[in-house]
Amino acid sequence: MAINIVVGGQYGDEGKGKIISYLALEDKPEVVARGGGGPNAGHTVEYKAKKYKIRLVPSGFVYKEAKLVIGPGVLIDPEVFLEEIKNFEVEGRCFVDRMATIIEPKHKEEDASSEIAKKIGTTKSGIGPATAHRALRDAKLAYQEERLGPYLTDCWKIVNSTSNLLVEGSQGFMLSNLHGTYPYCTAKDVSASAICSEIGLGPKKVDNVIMVIKSYTTRVGSGPLEGEISPEQAKKLGMDEYGTVTGRQRRVNPNLIWQELKKAVIVNSATFLALTKLDVKYPQAKGLRDFQKLPKKAQDFVFEIEKKLNVPVALIGTGPDAQDIIDRRKELGIKK
Ligand code: GTP
Ligand code: IMP
Ligand code: MG
Repeated sequence: MAINIVVGGQYGDEGKGKIISYLALEDKPEVVARGGGGPNAGHTVEYKAKKYKIRLVPSGFVYKEAKLVIGPGVLIDPEVFLEEIKNFEVEGRCFVDRMATIIEPKHKEEDASSEIAKKIGTTKSGIGPATAHRALRDAKLAYQEERLGPYLTDCWKIVNSTSNLLVEGSQGFMLSNLHGTYPYCTAKDVSASAICSEIGLGPKKVDNVIMVIKSYTTRVGSGPLEGEISPEQAKKLGMDEYGTVTGRQRRVNPNLIWQELKKAVIVNSATFLALTKLDVKYPQAKGLRDFQKLPKKAQDFVFEIEKKLNVPVALIGTGPDAQDIIDRRKELGIKK
């Protein structure tokens, strides 16, 4: 029984979907709440030989007993939402806050054609224009969208009345509008505090802030990326990846960017890290669930991260399935 929040520590696509789905199956939260962004997010969840690509419905849907709720800070594209309700068979247990902003077709058109959106290389999901209209206070809200009638709720009531909650952030710290690489960033802050605010969860309630980092760095879209290698080099290293929402090839730095991660740990007040794709960097780690069995080089990489960032690495991804994880929480004395 804990209140856990999961955020991205790099440029998004750290593998949050996989970590969240593992935590949902393992910890059995009463509620999984989604904050952050909107359908610009693309989370991939692999479970029992099935692969799901999710943009709005919480990735914790794989745990069938959980109630799923999307906060008022999340931008809702009704088509995407309704499609996912059907595809992921979550009718009757997935709700959206009545005060959430609706992404309208005109927002998507503007996001696909404006000069600034092209310069940034946005996901064309309408995020910037819809956020701008929310700030101008002429945006349409979820309660004004007829098709969403059966799904409306008050998120703040749900998230503040349980102590068994998994909160799901989206994007990654370096894409934060406030703390990232502005103007090459998304339209909102995506740090843990912002995610709490977006679902109406009081900040003192959080037990663990879990910051997800991948064993190397990727970025999709324009903007600075220190230590970037060519797509061909990335492919040779098995680090070539393609965007979940846009299909674009992700840019790669085969290493971690320590300065950026140090800032991300502090601003998010990360209590522990989840490290994904260790098996991509060290193929002998594939499928392992026991830290002691990891090759020495992989163990040393984990220790290096803990030393440099001063936060324990409590979860380690060793394969694509939700269950391909080394869970060190018990040995590290972390409340589950
Ligand atoms: P988020 O946006 O942070 O949720 O990440 P993502 O889901 O966008 O990343 P992506 O779409 O690239 O999907 C990641 C893929 O890598 C999925 O198929 C995951 O199952 C898989 N994956 C996640 N963690 C690991 C890991 O530790 N090892 C391996 N080999 N694959 C992983
Ligand atoms: P927008 O959020 O669609 O406006 O896109 C702004 C920038 O953030 C672009 O560089 C996108 O590629 C990037 N971005 C937004 N959401 C995600 C995400 O979930 N993963 C990775 N990159 C993202
Ligand atoms: Mg993604």
